[in-house]
Amino acid sequence: MNILILGSGGREHTFAWKIAQSPLCKSLYVAPGNSGTAKIATNVNISVTDFEALKSLVLDKAIDMVVVGPEDPLVQGVHDFFLNHNQLKDVVVIGPEKAAAQLEGSKEFAKEFMYRHDIPTAAYKSFNASNVEEGYAFLETLNPPYVLKADGLAAGKGVLILNDLHEAKTELKHMLVDAKFGKASAKVVIEEFLDGIELSCFVLTDGKNYKILPTAKDYKRIGEGDTGLNTGGMGAVSPVPFATPEFLSKIEERIVKPTISGLQKDSLPYKGFVFIGLIKVGDDPKVIEYNVRMGDPETEVVLPRLKNDLVEIFIAIANQTLDKISIVIDDRTATTVMLVSGGYPETYDKEKTINGVESISDSLVFHAGAKIKNNQVVTSGGRVMAITSFGHNHNEALKKSYQNIEKLHFDKMYYRKDIGFDL
Ligand code: AMP
Ligand code: GLY
Repeated sequence: MNILILGSGGREHTFAWKIAQSPLCKSLYVAPGNSGTAKIATNVNISVTDFEALKSLVLDKAIDMVVVGPEDPLVQGVHDFFLNHNQLKDVVVIGPEKAAAQLEGSKEFAKEFMYRHDIPTAAYKSFNASNVEEGYAFLETLNPPYVLKADGLAAGKGVLILNDLHEAKTELKHMLVDAKFGKASAKVVIEEFLDGIELSCFVLTDGKNYKILPTAKDYKRIGEGDTGLNTGGMGAVSPVPFATPEFLSKIEERIVKPTISGLQKDSLPYKGFVFIGLIKVGDDPKVIEYNVRMGDPETEVVLPRLKNDLVEIFIAIANQTLDKISIVIDDRTATTVMLVSGGYPETYDKEKTINGVESISDSLVFHAGAKIKNNQVVTSGGRVMAITSFGHNHNEALKKSYQNIEKLHFDKMYYRKDIGFDL
């Protein structure tokens, strides 16, 4: 098969690395890709949301399957675009159709879905500019901290957690009236704060059947001890040690099953990954959010543990025969540590030369914000590379990642030295 991956991060390099191992993959393309995907696939410089350009590429290269990495093209309807074109409708697209992608594209839609299908989540109400006063009144009924969520996609920045009631009201006004996050905050979900430890559960579905992939925990804050600004993710561990079989069975019964059957009941067409962000409150899982794609950097620890041929799984998703597949998981722990540009997630420099990549043999190096310039690998983004290692437990795996990071260098390189600190 000729396969196209959409995206340019560590997640997409990991997909490319995994798909390239499949005997079913003949030619592999990544749009736009990075310096890591350039080594194992053909990068094509097309934006993931330029559907017309993607169409030309797919026809030109006789692409049979498109694997969508990030949420933007899904929320904008890339799957529907393919289904609606005669020449493209038989191309397999891994990722939900637009209606189902609303699970990530609208927080209010996701909350309504969870309420409709009795899926445990935080209590909430949503507001817009016309009833902002009611929003203030609702905040007064809650205890701090206050959780404010922009309804639409806001590049991971749309959630505010505030301790002070006055500040919460001011921010609510900024979001609704002053368009703090543009159109994304035309509606705001205010919800109950949930206190607990977070983890993520990844599910594959063909719209009818599902398979649960390993859990993972990511570390979102820039600073050690989970302090400072939110980032796209600074590291990840899989499996999550506190996700006992009993807890996992609660996740499957109370969350995964009603989610998949809810998609069917609501006629939401879904062929792809469901990323369920969870929080463990006491002994019970509650849903914080749905994403309609894999996580990054969670992919960098989940896919290396998957022993199956990923292309075979994707074909089963297309044919709605996922029930015929047995998922086989490596029982070792995988960890990843993200190297970032100094200054990230605020401003940072680019095009810094990255040295030492060739010297690493016993960890996997997944490139993210990195590109090739004048035959050298240089930085091109905030999150630059993820260093993934295996071990019998997370400490052993992390030790290997950290030892290998010693061999890597670029100007102002930063990483968290405490991934897994809370496990
Ligand atoms: P989201 O963009 O929905 O993943 O939210 C970003 C982060 O905000 C999550 O990873 C949580 O750490 C936190 N968060 C979101 N909703 C809640 C909630 N109801 N209670 C506590 N923390 C939350
Ligand atoms: N690591 C979190 C995400 O991919 O959304």
